[in-house]
Order: sequence, then C-alpha cells, then structure tokens
Amino acid sequence: MANALVVIKNLSNAYRTRAYGVFGREVIQPVLDHITLEIGQGEIFGLVGESGCGKTSLGNSILGLIPYEGAITIDGLQQQQQGQLKRSKALARKVQAVFQDPGAALNPAKPIGWLMEEPLRIHGIGTKQERIKKVDAMLHRVGLDPGYKTRRVHELSGGQKQRVCIGCALMLEPKLIVADEAVSSLDVSVGAQILNLFQDLHHSLGLGMLFISHNLQVVYYICHRIGVMYKGQIVELGAAQAVYSHPAHPYTQALLAAASGSDLSPRLVPGSPGFASPSPGLYQKQGCGFVEPCPWKRPDCGKTAPKLINIAPPGAPAQEVRCLLVQTEEPRRNR
Ligand SMILES: Nc1ncnc2c1ncn2[C@@H]1O[C@H](COP(=O)(O)OP(=O)(O)O)[C@@H](O)[C@H]1O
Ligand SMILES: [Mg+2]
Repeated sequence: MANALVVIKNLSNAYRTRAYGVFGREVIQPVLDHITLEIGQGEIFGLVGESGCGKTSLGNSILGLIPYEGAITIDGLQQQQQGQLKRSKALARKVQAVFQDPGAALNPAKPIGWLMEEPLRIHGIGTKQERIKKVDAMLHRVGLDPGYKTRRVHELSGGQKQRVCIGCALMLEPKLIVADEAVSSLDVSVGAQILNLFQDLHHSLGLGMLFISHNLQVVYYICHRIGVMYKGQIVELGAAQAVYSHPAHPYTQALLAAASGSDLSPRLVPGSPGFASPSPGLYQKQGCGFVEPCPWKRPDCGKTAPKLINIAPPGAPAQEVRCLLVQTEEPRRNR
C-alpha cells in the first residue's frame, strides 16, 4: 500500500497463564498468529470475528499496551523493539484508543474539563488559556456544550461519556484511533449517533481508524475495508462491499449468515451448540484453523495451512482469503 499509516508484519502474541491457579503449571496460550496487515492513511479498517478470536489483543498490540513478536510501524515510527514495550510520547500522539466502557475509562473524581486537558498537560502543549480553548473547541466538535467542562462523569449519559472519551482521544490530534467495541455498550440510537460522530471526524480530520466490533452491521456501515478474524488469524481481507456481498471464506459466510439469521448448518453458526470452536483464541499449528467446523473440508485441509491469497479478478480491489478450497476451486459463495 502506497499511503500506509499502520504496517503490521508477522505479528504474533501469546499470553502466559497458569492452569489451576498461582501454583499451577505455566501455560503459554498463543493468541495472534503471524498477522500481516496494513491500514491506510485516513482509512476506516474494520476487524470482525467472534469473541475470543484476538481482536482486542491486536488492538492492544497496536496501542503498545502488550508485548508481541513481529513489527508494527505507525506513520513511520516503530512500536517496540526486541519484545520490549516502548510506548514513546511520539507514538502516543499518533495513536489513541476509545474503549467499550466509557464509564470505566474516565476518572470519576475529576471534572470533564480537567480530564480532556490532561493529555495536553502530559505532553506539555500550550499555556493554560490555550489548553482551555482547545478543550472548549473539542467539546463542541464531539457535540457537547462547553458547559459540560465542570460536570463529573456520573452526571453524563452513556453516549455523552463516550463523546468525552472520543474528545480525550482526539486532544493530541492522533492519526489513528483504535475503537475497540466503542459502540457495543450503547443502545442502538446512541450507538448510531456515535457512529455518525466517528464518520464526521473521519471526514473533517482525515482520521484513520481501526474499528473493532463483533457487530457486522455496524462494521459494514462505517468501514472501508474489513478483516475477518478466526482464532488469531485473518481469514478474509478486502473491501467491505466485496466481502459482504461475496463472502468467500466459509467462516465469513457463517458469520454473515448468523448475523442475518439465515438458515445455515448449525455446525457453522458461531455460538450455536454444534459450533465446533475448540479453545477460543488458540490456533492450531498444522493445517487450516477452521478445519473442524468446516462442512466443505478436504483431507488436505488438516495438513496444509492455507495462506492469505487474493482471489479478486484482475483489476478489481483485492479480496484475500485463507482457504484451500476457495483458492483451488470455484469459490463456494452464498451457500
Ligand atoms: N491478559 C490476558 N491473559 C491471558 N489470556 C488472555 C488475556 N487477554 C486475553 N486473553 C485470552 O486471549 C484470547 C483472545 O482475547 P481477546 O483478544 O480479548 O479476544 P476478542 O477481543 O476477540 O474477544 C481469549 O481466549 C482470551 O481469554
Ligand atoms: Mg475484545
């Protein structure tokens, strides 16, 4: 990609946990499996997949909140070196986050104006007067009256709290926002208002976004390109329009069918009792990760790990799919 804002190369990630409590054996649980991905300047990239597939882990890696293997470059700056977290102030100015629960993200003891001024204070930007002016302008930008400056978190509705979180994230004029389930805790109409706010900010500021959600409709509404994740791997990647109208990977088809409530084999519908999804988050070392629940698997699917390969016709925008069947046979679409 010529104008890439985020370049992710071979990103892998594992958590160390202990089976049976603190005295148990240490278990290394792989979560992300060699993810290679680019997000363009000013692009809204959606990441979808069932709960536990690793979406938040990918977002947190980009934010520099957890260690990982591989390389992440954001607007030319390297995120970490040799497995050591290195979240510099320069990087913090380029990438900011909006999380699911705005109530938990905001300090309840401080007034909203103080909270929104905090990033500017930490980065030593402007005089007190200039900072207050910026806070007023940002409140206006996110659709709140400057009078909200003196209120505290408990005096705001869920949507207003999320607007404050978005305002805080934008104070340093970042190039990328990682929005992790940012509208999932809001009711439908408030969620729609926040989505429209994201879109306005994207148009007016040229903001790039990694929009993480399990809600496919929301992602389709707001995103230019999407990545479908299953057990720590991107299984399909392409323009939102193309992936939604012609889902090629059996898992994408299953996700879309589950979202639209259409009649599909229950073995394939994520969340249904028959859906074979062993140890969410774990990926298997051999073969395709989706081999167990896939109704169209062939014997070699369990042996050969498919690569992400572009199946779009020449001249069309790329649609990359990680499936041996799709790559070797006529795409099995819309079954
Ligand atoms: N801090 C952690 N320690 C151990 N395991 C974790 C931790 N955070 C997440 N996991 C595990 O990693 C997997 C992926 O989690 P996550 O990235 O939050 O998925 P998603 O956001 O797609 O629901 C899950 O199986 C989860 O239990
Ligand atoms: Mg998550």
